Amino acid sequence: MSRAPVSSGDRAIGTVAMRWHGGSLELLDQRLLPDQEHWITLEGSAGVAQSIRDMVVRGAPAIGISAAYGVALAARHAGGGDWKTEIKQAIRELAASRPTAVNLFWALQKMEQVFSECHSLEEAVKRLSETAVQIHKDDLSANLAMADYALAHMDASKPFSVLTHCNTGALATGGYGTALGVIRRLHEKKLLKDVYADETRPWLQGSRLTAWELARDGIPVTLNADGAAASILAAGHVRWVIVGADRITANGDVANKIGTYSLAVLARHHKVGFMVVAPSSTVDMALASGKDIPIEEREGEELRQVRGVQIAPAGVKVFNPVFDVTPASLIDVIVTEKGVVSTPNMTGMAGLFS
Ligand code: MRU
Repeated sequence: MSRAPVSSGDRAIGTVAMRWHGGSLELLDQRLLPDQEHWITLEGSAGVAQSIRDMVVRGAPAIGISAAYGVALAARHAGGGDWKTEIKQAIRELAASRPTAVNLFWALQKMEQVFSECHSLEEAVKRLSETAVQIHKDDLSANLAMADYALAHMDASKPFSVLTHCNTGALATGGYGTALGVIRRLHEKKLLKDVYADETRPWLQGSRLTAWELARDGIPVTLNADGAAASILAAGHVRWVIVGADRITANGDVANKIGTYSLAVLARHHKVGFMVVAPSSTVDMALASGKDIPIEEREGEELRQVRGVQIAPAGVKVFNPVFDVTPASLIDVIVTEKGVVSTPNMTGMAGLFS
């Protein structure tokens, strides 16, 4: 794979997580990063659903985009007999792959709408493929717009450091990134001193993916254990904590990678800004508050082992929720491509969509 970052116009957008070839989808296997850059080729929707479940591809927007391509593949490979039933079945299977990131259901709903308007398989193949490509392009545009909004909100004149959690970069999106897109833009504008990247136990999105993406694109990064975030904030090293989201509810509560909530508590305690950056496809106005968000729990082996090496007593009981909910009251600002909501609440969130 080429080491050069992909560019959109004259802007470098970082690496890519997926490549669409019309009849197939290639996914960069994120389970193997940073030591191996291995691409998996998928020709059917079942493989896409499995890849989302197994975290070959992860990150809320990237999951939604991949699922959309999965539906396009289902149409392309539909038997021609009862093609409508086959596509509906593929949508159901994709929807069951992961529960928390609402971008998955948002993208599938868009695809289902287009599918419902198609009168022939030929039309479905064409229109579903076009729609998936559009979803992908729109996500990249949203990321670029969010970086503009975030920098205007920060109104910085001198370089400063930030802390981030999980991976919200080009690997997690249609390109450039959400929180990591803002960080990229700070770097482009020479306003970035350093990025503290939480390692993000247990799946290590921070050390395996964020540190890799930033180092690869020449953006300064310092990796820290999750437990070091308190000391970093207490020492005054950081002006903003910037994170992404998997689902934002109508009152501004935010589900994101496990450990985000504790960071928000720390940021408030140390008077450090707490910014959430997510496209409107991550906002679920149908849910009143974060209490309603389904939180995925993954298997205990993710904590008992690291890449197959046992690091805990075999069979020890494990609690492994992979997301948590940060209450809106701890968030200073939510940035979307539709605009910015400061001190988020029900009114501010509704205003985004009015
Ligand atoms: O379990 P993951 O790796 O899919 O979780 C990803 C996150 O929690 C990200 O912070 C979120 O999806 C935002 S990605 C732009």
